[in-house]
Amino acid sequence: MTTRREFIKGMAGASATVCCGLGITSILESCTTSHLQAPIRGTRIEIESSLFLEKSYLVITNVKLPAPIYLHKNGDSYIASLMLCTHKQCELNITGATLSCPCHGAQFSKEGVVIQGPAETDLQHFIVTSNGTKVIIDLKK
Ligand code: FES
Repeated sequence: MTTRREFIKGMAGASATVCCGLGITSILESCTTSHLQAPIRGTRIEIESSLFLEKSYLVITNVKLPAPIYLHKNGDSYIASLMLCTHKQCELNITGATLSCPCHGAQFSKEGVVIQGPAETDLQHFIVTSNGTKVIIDLKK
């Protein structure tokens, strides 16, 4: 026979499982749709342009980078911005249509332009070229 305490404890666990399950699913979906761990070859990162068929951006990660790169597609061109706040070097989060800083609240557009301070400088950009099948980010400064 189940006591009242066991019943409540079981329900709390079930609720947590459902909530966490939904949360993990959402996180995994967003990870599989926009995050990409890419190798650096020399000073370049090459990405298949087909990855952009249904996406407007990718978040490129590599342990050699100081922060991920936000690679935004705008029509036929690409903009690559280092997701490192220019105020005090905190890593940025993607918040809807902007990149936001969790440290002091600066916001940047998808193109890496300052929208809201305290940051005063746009994000570091990288030169991006595309040959139709590949998108190439040049990490040289
Ligand atoms: S470090 Fe980003 S706003 Fe201060």
